[in-house]
Amino acid sequence: MQNTGIAIIGSGSAVPTACLSNQAMMDLVDTSDEWIKTRTGISQRHIAAAGATLSALATDASRNAIAMAGISASDIDLILLTTSTPDDLFGSACQIQAALGADKAVAFDLTAACSGFLFGLVTAAQYIKTGVFQNVLLIGADVLSRWVDWQDRGTCVLFGDGAGAVVMQANSSDRLLGFKLKSDGSQNHYLNLSYAADSQELTPGVTVSKGAYQAITMNGKEVYRFAVQSVPEVIDKALFNAQISTEQVDWLLLHQANQRILDAVAQRLDIPKHKVISNLAQYGNTSAASIPLALDEAVRAGKIQNNDIIAASGFGAGLTWGAAIFRWGR
Ligand code: COA
Repeated sequence: MQNTGIAIIGSGSAVPTACLSNQAMMDLVDTSDEWIKTRTGISQRHIAAAGATLSALATDASRNAIAMAGISASDIDLILLTTSTPDDLFGSACQIQAALGADKAVAFDLTAACSGFLFGLVTAAQYIKTGVFQNVLLIGADVLSRWVDWQDRGTCVLFGDGAGAVVMQANSSDRLLGFKLKSDGSQNHYLNLSYAADSQELTPGVTVSKGAYQAITMNGKEVYRFAVQSVPEVIDKALFNAQISTEQVDWLLLHQANQRILDAVAQRLDIPKHKVISNLAQYGNTSAASIPLALDEAVRAGKIQNNDIIAASGFGAGLTWGAAIFRWGR
């Protein structure tokens, strides 16, 4: 096994066409455009149509990333789908593999909620570093609209659907400069999409659980507190591991949960506003998709340029959080 570096050489994204504005939200719950905008920064979210699949959305994002990377689907060794909302609880990565015609690729799902993309990035990197795989397609995709309680104004205004993807490739120099991942299950109850068991007796003395997943529940205040405290800390640790100073960071790319969280984290790290990537006004919180979606938009808009140093951080249910420092491009 050789030790190889990593480059992130292509990005892509896809969102459903239907939009739900704050104005339209007012028909669903007792809220206002002003409340949502000032508390979250969100103006609208994209919502997957009934019958639309996560796999199709993720496949569209993947095609765009593969095209930018200049490789073909048959070059891909691994497809890693990070999601909490697969079409199939057994996993949806293989359906994407088939749709892309990525015959050579091993494909599997990884779940770490809104930290999924970040955790996936570090996981994929290990396969490349050890020389096992050369080309990895990493996808972050979620359709949380399936699991939102559309009568709960405390959560339904926050989330939207989307998919983003990147191609990671073995490279002579390592452009993934440092990372740090964290988990704390003792705070799990603050953010859940949990299974509620319904007991069914098969034969006397033998019961099974035939329940269903419940809507998202969240303690917004605690999640907010956790994010503004833990995210700057984990970015600091990743920067230390990368031997990079905050002044050297070109872009702060956070999970797009809430504009107030983005602002508070940037302020704590002393990173100026013009370096903070934000697109949540248009999309809301798209969970595992939010970082690659925002990355792809910024790359295609010409904001993020080759060699720019990006400090990325994901955080969410688990609780999980993490940061990765990387240079964009080859
Ligand atoms: N519209 C109008 N009013 C709303 C509302 C909505 N959509 N949602 C909640 N409210 C009300 C509450 O009922 C409460 O009313 P009350 O004072 O009469 O009881 C009031 O607004 C304040 O609610 P509170 O929950 O204290 O608001 P907040 O300032 O904490 O903001 C969040 C709520 C959800 C925006 C905020 O806590 C947050 O962003 N948390 C992090 C969530 C997150 O990012 N989760 C995903 C992480 S991956």
